[in-house]
Amino acid sequence: MDKKLVTNVGQLVTPGGNEPVSGPEMNELSVTENRTVLIQDGLITELGNKGDFTDIREEEIEIIDAGGRPVLPGFVDPHTHFVFSGYRAKEFQMRLQGKSYEEIAKEGGGIASSVTSTRQASFPQLKKESRERLRSMVRFGVTTVEGKTGYGLDKKTELKQLKVMKDLNTETPLDIATTFLGAHSIPPEYSDSREEYVNFVTEEMTPIAAKQGAEFCDVFCDRGAFTVEESRRILTDGKEFGLTPKIHADEIAGTGGAELAGDVGAISADHLLKSSNEGLNSMKKRGVVAVLLPITAFSLKDDYARGKYMIDTGLSVSLATDFNPGSCFSESIPLLFSLATLYMEMTLEETITALTLNAAAAIDRADKIGSIEPGKQADLVILDAPDYKHLSYHIGVNSVARVIKRGETIWKKNRPQF
Ligand code: NIG
Ligand code: FE
Repeated sequence: MDKKLVTNVGQLVTPGGNEPVSGPEMNELSVTENRTVLIQDGLITELGNKGDFTDIREEEIEIIDAGGRPVLPGFVDPHTHFVFSGYRAKEFQMRLQGKSYEEIAKEGGGIASSVTSTRQASFPQLKKESRERLRSMVRFGVTTVEGKTGYGLDKKTELKQLKVMKDLNTETPLDIATTFLGAHSIPPEYSDSREEYVNFVTEEMTPIAAKQGAEFCDVFCDRGAFTVEESRRILTDGKEFGLTPKIHADEIAGTGGAELAGDVGAISADHLLKSSNEGLNSMKKRGVVAVLLPITAFSLKDDYARGKYMIDTGLSVSLATDFNPGSCFSESIPLLFSLATLYMEMTLEETITALTLNAAAAIDRADKIGSIEPGKQADLVILDAPDYKHLSYHIGVNSVARVIKRGETIWKKNRPQF
């Protein structure tokens, strides 16, 4: 049996349990000092205090010295679009000059432009680019990533995106949760017949995506994208094929996406910038996790989602990067910490719960990851800071020293040569 012991943990910081945490409980992290974590075959088996487990002979165990620093669960990024080819720096420049995201999309940019370049990319090229993006995410402490299709919108390319994620799930140490987002946009070849495209998504692509191992079905339900009724059909149909519903809701306008998330019993509803109180209530009733994406709001210069209000009303709130080539070209967890705590009035403790246990719940993995407890996967982050509070205090800077996935070190901070 492979045994490892994380010793000298200055602060062990973790939420608890196998379920999403909601309301005021999101603030109740466990913070204990001078701890040790015993890992066997990639799983956490026991937590102890300083000096525990000394009866295990040294040659039988690998010691990971945390150096008195804080240790947290590996971060989970439960909403990304990391599988794409082609960049849209020009569009970002246009936005800096005052053009809106919607205007750019109407002029043929936006998602359509990424669809063209992702269709053109070969499978090896797309996989290589996507792998590089995962490498970048790991250094911020991310150990599990959700990824979506949606830059193909035809069978061949949607499957290419799914296959990239499937391969990277086996070939890299990270866990990748896969989401089918065939309803991201209406592709140009269907521009005159949106109903036909919805039929194509539900009747032709959904069954194939399910067969190819997609776990979730997502839809961009918004002004200029899919209507509530189209989205309802797509998600209900996805369910019939075993895909768990997720939804991009109320990002650009409050069209009723949050209400729909409650109606169909989605596992998460994401964005929620313009959601109504009724919509949020409908989510709360069905236990839908609210996945907030503040870097997108920041990048679009829009108002932030009402994180504090959602927590106060008893919702389970999670956070994610929304990493994509358009609305949010950023995989930065440090920026996420800053925006959530400084601008969404979430406490640091709520932010940590949102990025660990609740993020795991948003991708149906709260029983396996998201907290440091016996029985969970040994996915850990050792900070390069004296106190976990540096995660928000050290603004926009990476506070991670070492990242551990199933007990193995997968990233370590390099020391400068001076
Ligand atoms: O979550 N809102 C829809 N989809 C992405 C943006 C995709 C893009 O701009 O390429 C989002 O923001
Ligand atoms: Fe998104």
